Amino acid sequence: MVTWKNEDFLSAQIKFVWENEEAYKQAGLSEENSHLFGGEFSQLFHTVKDNQFMIFAGMGKAEKLDGRKFKNIVAKSSRTLTSFNIKEFSIDISALTDVYKEKAYFDVVAGVELGLYTYKGVHQENEEKDYTVYVVDSNFSKEQSSELIRKAKNITDGMILTRDWINTPGNMLTPEIFANDLNNKLTQAGCEVTVYNERQLAEMGAGALLAVGESSDHKPRLVVMKYMGNPNSDKVYGYVGKGVTVDTGGYSLKNSAGLMYTKGDMGGAAAVAGAIYAIAKNNLKVNVVAVVPTCENRLSNQSRIPGDVIKSMNGKTIEILNTDAEGRLILADALTYAVRQEKVTHIVDVATLTGAVVGALGTVAAGCMTNDEEYLSEFYAAAKEAGERYWQLPLFEEYEEALKSKVADIKNTGNGNAGTIAAALFLREFVEETPWIHLDIAGTSQTEAPSNDYHCFGGTGFATPSLYFLAEAHQDI
Ligand code: BES
Ligand code: MG
Ligand code: ZN
Repeated sequence: MVTWKNEDFLSAQIKFVWENEEAYKQAGLSEENSHLFGGEFSQLFHTVKDNQFMIFAGMGKAEKLDGRKFKNIVAKSSRTLTSFNIKEFSIDISALTDVYKEKAYFDVVAGVELGLYTYKGVHQENEEKDYTVYVVDSNFSKEQSSELIRKAKNITDGMILTRDWINTPGNMLTPEIFANDLNNKLTQAGCEVTVYNERQLAEMGAGALLAVGESSDHKPRLVVMKYMGNPNSDKVYGYVGKGVTVDTGGYSLKNSAGLMYTKGDMGGAAAVAGAIYAIAKNNLKVNVVAVVPTCENRLSNQSRIPGDVIKSMNGKTIEILNTDAEGRLILADALTYAVRQEKVTHIVDVATLTGAVVGALGTVAAGCMTNDEEYLSEFYAAAKEAGERYWQLPLFEEYEEALKSKVADIKNTGNGNAGTIAAALFLREFVEETPWIHLDIAGTSQTEAPSNDYHCFGGTGFATPSLYFLAEAHQDI
C-alpha cells in the first residue's frame, strides 16, 4: 500500500528532468561529467547528495511523451528506488506539472501505485509492503496538490480493485462471493447495488445467463451498480462487463493448456466495477449504471449441450453450438437488462471475449467495435487520456450471414473466421437502437510477460481508466 503525503521529506528523492542541454546541471554534474545524464527518456541517474539518495529520471522531449511512457518512467524510477530497500521517498514532479498542469497527477499517482503493486497471493506467510510517498510540486499549493492526489488515487484504487479481482483464484471468487464483494465495495463507494439471484433471474427470463450459469452448483448472479451523479440529466451511461469466474468451456471443453487459465474471465466485470468505483468516489456529475452478469462455465449434468436452443431475456432464441462461446450469451441478457430495465442511453460492454482478438492485435491493444462512430471517437479521447490503446475492427454486414441458425433466431458461433467480429455482431443483436461500443480485452486484461514497468504478472486493470475518463468527459451533459 502507498500512503501519499504533501510534507517535505529529505532522505530519498526522485526528480523528473526533461531532455535538454542543461539536464546534467540539474543532476548536480559538472561539465566533464555531462555525458552521464542528459534527461533522455527512460534514463536513470542515481547519486547521493547531502546524504540524500537521489534518482534523476529522464523524461525525454515533452512532445514525444504520452500517457504510457509517462507512467512507465514513474513506475521504473519508483521500482528502482524501492529496490534499494527504501520505503519512504519524495518525488519532485514540478517539471511534469510545468507542462501537463493538473493532468500530470493521474500519471504520477498511477505510475507509482501500479508500479509498486504486487498481488499478495495466497501464501502461508503474507507480508504486504507499505510505502510512503511525499510529493513536491512547485506549481500547486499543498492543498491543491493533496486534492489532486486524492482524485488520482481514487482512479488507481479502481484499477487495483480490478487487478485484485482478476488475480483471485476461481475457487475463491465464485459468482456469489464476487457479487457480495461488488455489493460491499460499491455500496461503500456510494453506489446503489442490487444483486439478482438465480430465482429472480428465472422470473426475469434471463434464459441466456441461466443457460451458462446452471452448469455449476455455484449459481449465477446479475449485479447492478448504480451511480446517479447528475439527476438533472436524462443521459444514463451503461457499462456492462463479462463476469465468468471460471471458464472451462463446458461440453466444448478447453484442452489441458487452456484449462490452466480458467480464472480471470471476469476481467470485463472487474473493469466496469473498478471504473464505477472511481466515478462514485470522485463524485462525477454523471449517471452511470454498471451491469455485471457473473457465473461459472462448467461441464456437468446441468450444462447445456451443443445443439440446445435457449430463449434469451430479449425473446430471441439462441442455438448454442459451442458452449465455450459463453460470454456472448451472458452478455446478451445483461445488455437487454441494461436497455430495457435501466433504460441506459449509451452502452459500453467490456469482455475477455475471444481468443481471436489476441491473434489479431496481440497483448498491447484491445479490439473495439461500435454501431456509433461518434460515440467511439469520444471513447478514443478518453482512452488517450488513460494511456490505453484500442484498435477498431469493422462490423462488415457479410459476416452477419454466419450467425444465422436453421433452428433458432441466431446461433452463438460464426463460421470460424473473424471470430472477434462475429462475437460483436452477436452482441449487437441485443443493444436494440442504443449507441454502443464493444471492447474485447481478452489479450490485454492480464499479462504473463509484462511489456512495461507499471504492469506485473496477472491483472493489468485494463479498460478501467478509459471508462473513468469517458464518464468524466460526459459530466453535466
Ligand atoms: N473467455 C474465452 C476467450 C478467451 C480466450 C479469453 C483466451 C482469454 C484468453 C471465451 O469464452 C471463449 O472461449 N471464446 C471462444 C469462442 C469460440 C468458441 C467461438 C474462443 O475464443 O475460442
Ligand atoms: Mg469460453
Ligand atoms: Zn469465456
